[in-house]
Formats: sequence, structure tokens, C-alpha cells
Amino acid sequence: MAHHSTSPLTLLFIFILMASGAKMYARAKNITIVNVCKETVWPGVITQNNSYQGDGFTLKPGQSASYDAPSGWSGRIWARTGCDFNNNNSTSTCQTGSCGPSINCTGPGSLPATIAEFTLGGDTDFYDVSLVDGFNVPIMVRPFGGKGNCSTAGCDGDLRQSCPSELTVKANGKVIGCRSACDTFNRDQFCCRGSYGDQATCFPSNYSSSFKQVCPAASSYAFDDSTSVITCSAEQYIVAFCASRNQTVCSYHDNKLFCNQSKGLKSFSQSWWLFLVLALPLTLNIGVIF
Ligand SMILES: *[C@@H]1O[C@H](CO)[C@@H](O)[C@H](O)[C@H]1NC(C)=O
Ligand SMILES: *[C@@H]1O[C@H](CO)[C@@H](O)[C@H](O)[C@H]1NC(C)=O
Ligand SMILES: *[C@@H]1O[C@H](CO)[C@@H](O)[C@H](O)[C@H]1NC(C)=O
Ligand SMILES: *[C@@H]1O[C@H](CO)[C@@H](O)[C@H](O)[C@H]1NC(C)=O
Ligand SMILES: *[C@@H]1O[C@H](CO)[C@@H](O)[C@H](O)[C@H]1NC(C)=O
Ligand SMILES: *[C@@H]1O[C@H](CO)[C@@H](O)[C@H](O)[C@H]1NC(C)=O
Ligand SMILES: *[C@@H]1O[C@H](CO)[C@@H](O)[C@H](O)[C@H]1NC(C)=O
Ligand SMILES: *[C@@H]1O[C@H](CO)[C@@H](O)[C@H](O)[C@H]1NC(C)=O
Ligand SMILES: *[C@@H]1O[C@H](CO)[C@@H](O)[C@H](O)[C@H]1NC(C)=O
Repeated sequence: MAHHSTSPLTLLFIFILMASGAKMYARAKNITIVNVCKETVWPGVITQNNSYQGDGFTLKPGQSASYDAPSGWSGRIWARTGCDFNNNNSTSTCQTGSCGPSINCTGPGSLPATIAEFTLGGDTDFYDVSLVDGFNVPIMVRPFGGKGNCSTAGCDGDLRQSCPSELTVKANGKVIGCRSACDTFNRDQFCCRGSYGDQATCFPSNYSSSFKQVCPAASSYAFDDSTSVITCSAEQYIVAFCASRNQTVCSYHDNKLFCNQSKGLKSFSQSWWLFLVLALPLTLNIGVIF
């Protein structure tokens, strides 16, 4: 269940939640999804093995929403870009990441798309950012209140700006995505199948290496998991679109504003989006707000 931080539905949902006894949800985890992009994105959320019944919503620049992932949830979150839900071609409702004809996903996202992947356990969670299906927008995943490795997953830049020309996807002359080498050339060597079907035989290509340069903490080809899947036991997660790993992330929780950054001290004036988000009406006491 995804709900927008500023929507009255959120309030309604919270009150229903509280009325029905929050204990049931004790081990659920909040994933706050933030749009740091300059354009609107339409996040898509699907649960593993259930891609025909997903969620989706709209996030304007600076907006955030909270997704309550039930205990043991395993699934993926990505950004759809350039959507037009009046378009009757369900495979191309959005310029990238389409997952059916409407706001709630009814299928897996179309390629190319950067994907945040989660497997939440009672104690241990696993998460990563994957470029195995290509790239559309930078993603950053950061845990809060975690024990374990808990490092920030994702990108330091925008691969659309350095995508090898053979892999680019363009709309109106603008690069809107970067396809994976597997998707583009459909060769066993890039797709890690056939005689390249395991970790010992499938290696990074010059393509996947160029992906890894921009997104060092992301999986860049099928057998790249060992360097990119992060193990952590966290209370909540932040998924930020178009944020880089060194960006300050703030989380509004229990009437307090928690800010953090991965490297050194940084003045708040650099995190322009923080102020943008703070300018939104704050719905106090409700989960996580930026
Ligand atoms: C999308 O799914 C949510 C439940 O996850 C539901 O509340 C919402 O009404 C749905 N939206 C549309 C447009 O069907
Ligand atoms: C879900 O999918 C994974 C891999 O895609 C598979 O290993 C697993 O058995 C599936 N689980 C169910 C309940 O279908
Ligand atoms: C889709 O829309 C186009 C024009 O936008 C129209 O010509 C076509 O008949 C529509 N197709 C369906 C199946 O509705
Ligand atoms: C729908 O969009 C897909 C992807 O852009 C395209 O390949 C397909 O031809 C389109 N179908 C129709 C009926 O326009
Ligand atoms: C974050 O890192 C990128 C590239 O590594 C750099 O261009 C950018 O200026 C950094 N941003 C901040 C706020 O330090
Ligand atoms: C990767 O290598 C191939 C030849 O093996 C070359 O054609 C291509 O330009 C290279 N791509 C990048 C991104 O360096
Ligand atoms: C955390 O996990 C990542 C991904 O597996 C790894 O690259 C990094 O070195 C680990 N950090 C620590 C401190 O163990
Ligand atoms: C900020 O990050 C550091 C190291 O990652 C951590 O020790 C600290 O508790 C974090 N602070 C907050 C307020 O989350
Ligand atoms: C998640 O956030 C909602 C409000 O958005 C809150 O009611 C709920 O208690 C939070 N769940 C957890 C596990 O923090």
C-alpha cells in the first residue's frame, strides 16, 4: 500500500491502522520514496512473483511517499518517466519503466530501468540497486537505524550523460535511458547464459564497467551481486530518485528531523530539495517526511 505524504487518504489510512491495532504491523518496514528529479516520476512497486498486481503513484519534484512493506516483503521499486495514462498502448504508457496502462502496475517494468531491489527479513534485510535491466534515472537507497553493513547503494552521477551511444534510448533528441548490453545485443556473453552461465565464466564487459563507474554501489551485470547486495537490519529505508550517494538525506520521524550524509560535513544550502520538501504541508506524526 503506497500513500502520498500529503494526501488525505494517508491520514485516513493511518487512523485505520491505529484503530485496528498497530501490533499487526510491528515488523512492517517503511520505505520512503523521494523524487529529487527535476521532472515528475511515477514510481512503480511490484512484489516478487506478483507483478500483475502492483502499486504505483505520482511524485512531483521534491515530493515523497511512504510504502509500508509487510514483514518478509521482497520486491522492486523503480521510476517511470514521461507517463501519459491516456495513451492506449499499454506497453508504452511511459517513456521509460512502463508497467501497464494505469498508475498501479499490472506487469513488470519495461527496459531500460534502474531498479531498487529489497528482500526484507525479520532480522536481516538485503537490498541493492540494479542496472542489469539498464538505467533510466539515478537511484540511491539508504537505510536508517540499521545494524550491519548498511552502506548506501546507488549512483554518484547520471548514466544518461555518459551512456555509450550504441546503448542510448532517445526521445525528441534527448537521452532518456541507457540499455544494458544484454538487452541491446542479446549475446550470451553479456547476458551471462549458455557457456557464460555462471559466476566463473561471466565477467564484466566494457559496457557494464562503464555503468559501474557511474554507479559504483550497484549491480551492473547478472553476476555482479557479490559486490552490490548489501546486508543490513534497518527500521526504515529511503529510496531517492536522482539523488547521489553523497547527498544529505533527511527523515522526519516522531516529531524530529533526522539528517545524515555519507561523507563529511556539508551545509544545508547544498541540499536544495530538503527545503523544497519542507515547504510542503507537513502532516505531523505521520511516518517519515522529508
Ligand atoms: C492503486 O492501488 C491502491 C492500493 O494499493 C489503491 O488504493 C488505489 O486506489 C489504486 N489506484 C488506482 C488508480 O487504481
Ligand atoms: C518466486 O520467484 C523466485 C525467483 O524468481 C523463485 O525462486 C521462487 O520459487 C518463487 N516463489 C514462489 C512462491 O513462486
Ligand atoms: C488508440 O488510440 C488511437 C489514437 O490515439 C486510435 O486510433 C486507436 O483506435 C486506439 N486503439 C484502441 C485499441 O483503442
Ligand atoms: C506500442 O508501443 C510499443 C513500444 O513503444 C511498440 O513497439 C508497439 O508497436 C506499439 N503498439 C501499437 C499498437 O502502437
Ligand atoms: C557528489 O558527488 C558528485 C560526483 O562524485 C559531485 O559531482 C557532486 O558535486 C557531489 N555533491 C555534493 C553535494 O558533494
Ligand atoms: C566495448 O568494446 C567494443 C569492442 O569490443 C567496442 O566496439 C565498444 O565501443 C566498447 N564500448 C565501450 C563503452 O567502451
Ligand atoms: C558493505 O557491502 C558492500 C556490498 O556488498 C561492500 O562493497 C562493502 O565493502 C561492505 N562494507 C563493509 C564495511 O563491509
Ligand atoms: C549518520 O550516519 C552515521 C554513519 O553512517 C551514523 O553513525 C549516524 O548514527 C547517522 N546519524 C543519524 C542521525 O542517522
Ligand atoms: C510507517 O509509516 C506509517 C505512516 O506513514 C506509520 O503509521 C507506521 O507506523 C510506520 N511503520 C513503521 C514500521 O515504522
